[in-house]
Amino acid sequence: MTKFNVTPAGKDDLAFITALEAECFSSPWRFCDFEKALDAPDRHLLVARDGQTPLGYIAAYTVAGETDVTSVAVLPFARRRGVGRALLRALLLQLAPAPTVFLEVRASNTAARALYTACGFAQIGVRRNYYKSPREDAVLYRFDGAAHDEG
Ligand SMILES: CC(C)(COP(=O)(O)OP(=O)(O)OC[C@H]1O[C@@H](n2cnc3c(N)ncnc32)[C@H](O)[C@@H]1OP(=O)(O)O)[C@@H](O)C(=O)NCCC(=O)NCCS
Repeated sequence: MTKFNVTPAGKDDLAFITALEAECFSSPWRFCDFEKALDAPDRHLLVARDGQTPLGYIAAYTVAGETDVTSVAVLPFARRRGVGRALLRALLLQLAPAPTVFLEVRASNTAARALYTACGFAQIGVRRNYYKSPREDAVLYRFDGAAHDEG
């Protein structure tokens, strides 16, 4: 059982999310991008907390029954404590039953790739030179909820 509390983000979380996004990614979403996600029914923006302290977030959107995870990030000091796993699990539960979820990740991002595999995602392909700054392949993953009990 997770010791972290994962709930939908509120307006007060946007500064935290935007700062962590900028710290982690070369083409970060901006404050206004996340702000739009707050009220859109097809968007998912969740924050993991230890007590009142935000530690990480996950962002995703759903189109035609399929969900794409756009980012997941955890504060550096809080990594390897199960926060990333708690965020992905909470998203999958929110999408249940039997969600189909896709994501892509830099080939060199061994931490994220290990997290996705640990959460039941399967590698389904590679997009050559997909990322810029620096240029790098993207590895594509898919979660097939129909093949998993917990959804
Ligand atoms: C990827 C990231 C979100 C993982 O978050 P986390 O809270 O550290 O992950 P967890 O502690 O929940 O790890 C769950 C499992 O994933 C795997 N894992 C996570 N980080 C790992 C690492 N650095 N090395 C190897 N395996 C790792 C392990 O199997 C781990 O289980 P274990 O600790 O019981 O062995 C975090 O490293 C991060 O924020 N990175 C920067 C942003 C990023 O690259 N996001 C992904 C691209 S969108």
